[in-house]
Amino acid sequence: MKNIVVGLLTLGVVGLMVVTFMGGRAYHGGEHGKVIEDFGDSISTNKTVAVTDKDDRQKENDKLNALRDKAGSAGAFQVSNAYKSKCASCHGVNGSGVQNGKPMMGPKLFGQSSEKIFKNLVEFKAGRKENIVMKGLLMSLSEEDLQLFANEIGEFPARAEAQKK
Ligand code: HEC
Repeated sequence: MKNIVVGLLTLGVVGLMVVTFMGGRAYHGGEHGKVIEDFGDSISTNKTVAVTDKDDRQKENDKLNALRDKAGSAGAFQVSNAYKSKCASCHGVNGSGVQNGKPMMGPKLFGQSSEKIFKNLVEFKAGRKENIVMKGLLMSLSEEDLQLFANEIGEFPARAEAQKK
């Protein structure tokens, strides 16, 4: 009697396996399998998009590099030694806030007005605008120094423009 039960069970299991196998769709996950297939497609589409993005970025970088080469040096325009030694390491030699296509520690300053720069510097120094790095840096600078830096950075776009001619 036990043997018969085991035999029937085995037959049943084998039969189910055959049915599942022949079913194909069920074996591959049926409707779910299709969903996963669609998903797979959209992933590969995204991939192509990402690749074109990269290509565009690469092209842009190439263009930037070409511009830089044309300008002769990474600085592209003259900045004071004070800016170079005190600010350039975090904000970039030309205030772009970017180096080799990567964002630097400090944000972009290029293009901000001297009034805005000065206001920010005063606020950092006074501690009203919270930033340990900037505050520590500005502790030793007088308000006149801040004004000089602000004036200089405010001039960056004009300097870059003059350099192009
Ligand atoms: C050690 C890195 C470092 C150095 C050096 C540095 N900065 Fe900054 N700076 C920062 C960071 C980080 C911020 C962002 C602070 C924030 O917004 O909280 C910042 C913000 C600023 C801002 C505000 C910009 C904005 O868009 O909010 C100004 C203006 C500025 N810096 C000017 C200067 C000047 C001028 C010097 C040189 C005297 C200088 N920084 C040197 C790291 C630096």
